[in-house]
Amino acid sequence: MKVFVNKRIPEAGLDMLKEAGLEVFIPEHENLSHEEWLIYCQNSDAILSIGAEFKYDRDFFDQCTNIKTIALYSVGFDHVDIKEANSRNIPVGNTPDVLSKATSDIAFLLMQSVARRASYNFQKVKDGNWGDFDPLHALGQELYGKTLGILGLGRIGFEMAEKSHKAFDMKIIYHNRNRNEEAEKKLNATYVSFEELIEQSDVLSIHANFTPEQKDLFNKSVFAKMKSNAIFINTARGGFQNEKDLYEALVSKQIWGAGLDVTNPEPMFKESPLLELSSVCVLPHIGSATIEARTGMAKMAAENIIAFSKGEKIPYCANPEVYSENS
Ligand code: DGY
Repeated sequence: MKVFVNKRIPEAGLDMLKEAGLEVFIPEHENLSHEEWLIYCQNSDAILSIGAEFKYDRDFFDQCTNIKTIALYSVGFDHVDIKEANSRNIPVGNTPDVLSKATSDIAFLLMQSVARRASYNFQKVKDGNWGDFDPLHALGQELYGKTLGILGLGRIGFEMAEKSHKAFDMKIIYHNRNRNEEAEKKLNATYVSFEELIEQSDVLSIHANFTPEQKDLFNKSVFAKMKSNAIFINTARGGFQNEKDLYEALVSKQIWGAGLDVTNPEPMFKESPLLELSSVCVLPHIGSATIEARTGMAKMAAENIIAFSKGEKIPYCANPEVYSENS
């Protein structure tokens, strides 16, 4: 079976594929044009897919009829049209759990960085602008006992809630499709409506899966209902926020700060006015960027492809219905 891996990943995953006797193709240069990427896909049976630059939509599936499975090197699968994949019996793998700690660490880091204006102050030092001791300049806020609102309390959201609860005794409220009994029991988390979440959170952190209906969910009218000391954190997908509205909410002091590991678009333009604000910290989508998480992701993606090659169900499947619908 021919497997196209569109960028280098940790060797552990590549070794597994090779040891399983699969033919692995890795392009010599990594910045493939869309046309080059399509040609690789057209000549492969499986893709181990890194990044979300190219979409797996109807056009893709129409043009790449050889592709029999896609193993994503991510937990998120918003760049795949799952209905199309299902209609063509294509199992789509993802990498849940293994990156929950790393990604929630980034949400936790952003929360503290914004609360204490760390990136702004670091930039001042780099600019040779340490400044005199000033009792009133660029003061942060403490997180002890504050309310953390989680939108999407799955695995990553739970990790973020647990860390914040333990470190700062934060009160946890959440809004989710389903109740999370574990979080209610272990962290005394309270389920609230979306309106209550935005109105009551001192820190609001997004950990939900992104769907097109949620585009710009955080817009002018939502920011206007948030607390003036609120910190907005997004490590999920940039599509959740309207960045123009976010900028206006920050400069008009409707909310206090924002920490983003994801932007819309990605990469963020370096001219983005958000980057000018001392109340903002932006990271370049590094949620899963640890040796441990990225190695684990490589192994899971390889396991998915190897299972498929043996005619087995893939173990980490984003569209398990593909099996029941066709059985
Ligand atoms: C994920 O795994 O979904 C990360 O956001 C990387 O895309």
